[in-house]
This record gives sequence, structure tokens and C-alpha cells, in this order.
Amino acid sequence: MEDNTVLVMKRIRKEFQGVIALNEVDFVLRKGEVHILLGENGAGKSTLVKILSGAYQMTSGKIFLFNKQVNIKSPRQAQELGIGIIYQELNLIPYLSAAENIFLGREITNKFGIIDKKETLDSTNKMLKELGLEIDCDIPVINFGIAQQQMIEVAKALSLDAKILIMDEPTSALSDTEVKQLFQMIRNLKQRGVSVIYISHRLDELFEIGDRVTVLRDGIVVGTKDISDTTKTELIKMMVNRELTEHFPKRSALIGEEILRVEKLTQKNGINDISFTLNRGEVLGIAGLLGSGRTELARAIFGIDKYDSGNIYLRRKLQKIKSPKDAINQRIGFITEDRKSQGLVLILSVKENISLTNLTSFSGFGFIKSKEENKEAEEFINRLKIKTPTLDQKVIYLSGGNQQKVVLAKWLSKKADIFIFDEPTRGIDIAGKVEIYNLINQLASEGVGIIMISSELPEILGMSDRIIVMNKKKIAGEIPLKSATQELIMKYAIGA
Ligand SMILES: Nc1ncnc2c1ncn2[C@@H]1O[C@H](COP(=O)(O)OP(=O)(O)OP(=O)(O)O)[C@@H](O)[C@H]1O
Ligand SMILES: [Mg+2]
Repeated sequence: MEDNTVLVMKRIRKEFQGVIALNEVDFVLRKGEVHILLGENGAGKSTLVKILSGAYQMTSGKIFLFNKQVNIKSPRQAQELGIGIIYQELNLIPYLSAAENIFLGREITNKFGIIDKKETLDSTNKMLKELGLEIDCDIPVINFGIAQQQMIEVAKALSLDAKILIMDEPTSALSDTEVKQLFQMIRNLKQRGVSVIYISHRLDELFEIGDRVTVLRDGIVVGTKDISDTTKTELIKMMVNRELTEHFPKRSALIGEEILRVEKLTQKNGINDISFTLNRGEVLGIAGLLGSGRTELARAIFGIDKYDSGNIYLRRKLQKIKSPKDAINQRIGFITEDRKSQGLVLILSVKENISLTNLTSFSGFGFIKSKEENKEAEEFINRLKIKTPTLDQKVIYLSGGNQQKVVLAKWLSKKADIFIFDEPTRGIDIAGKVEIYNLINQLASEGVGIIMISSELPEILGMSDRIIVMNKKKIAGEIPLKSATQELIMKYAIGA
């Protein structure tokens, strides 16, 4: 064992009723390195780190921490061993401050046993400052963006003296500027000798932040490489076991008549004076930073949230959309960014989720469609390569990316004239992305109008016919594809 080795996982095996999620996996983590875990949806990445964080028990295998064999039985024990994990869904309590969140359950008290607020705030400030974050530690964390909340979580992990920090898709909900912030913090951590296990589907960032990468495929380690000694092409090949390039398929859709027009749409505390049109066969990209109002706009059009003034015209007729049900009746589909709370019924099967007629969470009901429609659902499963042992597997047991694919399949199996995609490829692996782009193009060529909200600029540039950039709940600019560049989009997005 090399002496800068922090962690060794040996022949880790994990089975879930007949599904082999990890098959004799070996993994070595060195001191102060950022070690990337890479692999397609369902490859076993989250399962591996959940074994480390005590969330899952391995079926067999051995774990050595600092040369000593350990048995991680619970999340609390992992914490005591110096292993911290930041899940994609944040775990802070929204209405507590940063200081209260960090010291939750182990409050700093004075000699009378009363919480020492000053001391708590001082230590929190010091910790966050070390991470490069200067914020008010005394106000509810809900006031901060996701990137900042993530840093508060990191501070919490470090305050528990984490030597190993696990991040499972930390950037999937972040925009470019926030990713930069996070990376700066990771670099600081490395200097302090903390080792980071980092999971992401964004290949470009691996080369920016990673030291080594381990590729998993179907629960097996394909190999471990130094980042400086590999290429994107090689990694993709290792992941998918065939040649595949990251690309945006060409589309030849004809842009037709207007299908949606939004005029001066305004909410009292939300979107402000939004006007645009969408035509049949067109992909309209909406870019902007987190909180710029993109999702709020989508929710207003889909009838989830009310708007206070302005008009929506569908097929050139003024329409009042008061609820998602109205929107669905008007043949609008909305693929939300938040798959867990809005897209899926986790305790139902893959098949049931896809064939539910109405979104249960919206209507409270759902009934199973006819056989033919079930068959259509099966086609989507094949097309999107949803990794599931059977069609009857409960969605809750699928990997994160595969759950996202089910959300897509569920919506795409319904006929609509307008689709709003909010971060359609978040958390989806490279082969799945290309499939989704193909599907979007196919819809466009059938005359569907598509609004695509995305934080990934290459995706916006590669897929859109026209681009709208939002800033502070307003449209900051509309850019025709011809003149669009990442720089120009960012300029509008930050309001420059
Ligand atoms: N609790 C569970 N019960 C049954 N099967 C599970 C459970 N958790 C994970 N699996 C299965 O184990 C395999 C690996 O899943 P895992 O979540 O580790 O994938 P992943 O690499 O993190 O994928 P993604 O990129 O989509 O997040 C998948 O086939 C998944 O369906
Ligand atoms: Mg995962």
C-alpha cells in the first residue's frame, strides 16, 4: 500500500434483489486528490459512495481507512470516521441560518449550558471564509443560491473533520459561474489535504478539476487513469464500450407558423414583462443564471403558478391557462427539472409511471392507458436505454439518471404541440444525451414547438434555433443562432 493512500476498497460487491450493482470493485483514494467516478447511468457510482457514507451495506468486500480495516454500519459512523458526503439534493434546513445548520445537534454552549451565539457565528464565519465564502451566517440559508448552500454543506462536513469528501453530481444544478466558485473551493480543500471523490456527467469539468478518474461500467471497474494521461474520447470509449462522440445531431426542421406567443407576462414577485413567440418546428433556447426566472416562466405558462398581468396566445388565440390540467388540455407538455417532486411517482413501476395519463401530482388521479399505449411506453424505454431489470421495477430503485429518463419518456409518450424542457439532460449520461437531442429534433420535425431551458451553454448553442437570455426575471436579450457565442450569452446572463 502506498503511504499517501487514504482509502482502499477491495472487491466490493453489492446486490439488490437480483440486481448486481457492484461486482468486485477495487478503488483506491490518495491524500489530497480529486478522484472522479465516471460511468453511464446505472453504472454503480452512487451505490459505491453510498457504501462509504454508510447509507448502504455492501454484500461483500473490505474497506481500509488509513491502513485499518473498517466496518461502516451507519451514516453517523461514516461521519465519525471522517467521511462526509454531499448529495445532489441538499440537506440543509432551509429556515435555519448557516451557523445553525452547521452546528445543528452539537451547539456551542457557554459554561451555563446556553447556546453561545457569538462563538457560533464567529466559528462559522471563520470556516466559510477559509472556503472562500463570505456571507451573512445569521440569516436563513434559503436566501442563498444553490452553490452557496452547497458550500455551507461542505463547511458542515469539514467542521466534522472530514478527511474524505464525497460529492455526487454537485454541479448538475449549478450554472457556469457557480461551478467556478465550487472548483475554487475544491482546490482549497486539496491544499488542506482533504481527498475528494467526485461524480459528474459533465466531461469537460473532469479535466479542469480531477487528478485521477475511475470508470465504472455495469458495476465493474473498467480502469483508473491519471487525468493528464487520458482524453475525452478514451474516457467515453471506456464508459460506453464503443465509439461515440459528444455531438449535436443536425436537424432539418422547417420553421412553421406561430404556436405560442407570450405578451408582457408579469408576476408581482416573479417574472417581469416577458414577451416572446415560439413557432412550430422551432427550438427556442432559454439561457440564464440560476434564479434568473427561467423556471418561473415555464411554470407560469404551464399554469402551475399564476401571473398577474400579460397574455398567452396559443395557436394565435388568447387563452387563460389556470392550471396544469388546462395546459395539458391545450397540448402543452412540461418536463420539469425537479424529477423527484414533480415528475414521478416513485413507488409506482417504470411502466406505470410512463403510462399514467395525467400527472398524478397535478390531478390526484391517473389511470392506465390501453395496451397500445403501453407498447409505446416500452419503445421509449428501449430508445432512451432506461436501465431497469423489468418494466415493473419501482422507479425509486432506479439510478438518478434513469429516473430522469423515465420523466422524459412519460411526457414524450403523450402527444403535445408545445414542449417545455427544463434542463432535459441534467444527470443524464452521454449516450442518453444524444438520444434526447435526437428526440427533440424529431419532435421539431413533426411540427412541435419546443422551449428548452438549459444551463449548459454548449447544449443551448448546439440545439437552439433562437436563444433568449434571462437576467433578474426579465429578458436580457434575444440572440439569433448565427451570432450566438458562449461569451455573448454570458454577457447578457450577468446583465453586462
Ligand atoms: N435501492 C436499490 N434497489 C434496487 N436496485 C438499486 C437500488 N439502488 C440502486 N440500484 C440499481 O443499482 C444500479 C446502480 O445504480 P447507481 O444509482 O449506483 O447508478 P449511478 O452510476 O449512480 O447512475 P446515475 O448516473 O444515473 O446516477 C442500477 O441498476 C440501479 O437500478
Ligand atoms: Mg447516481
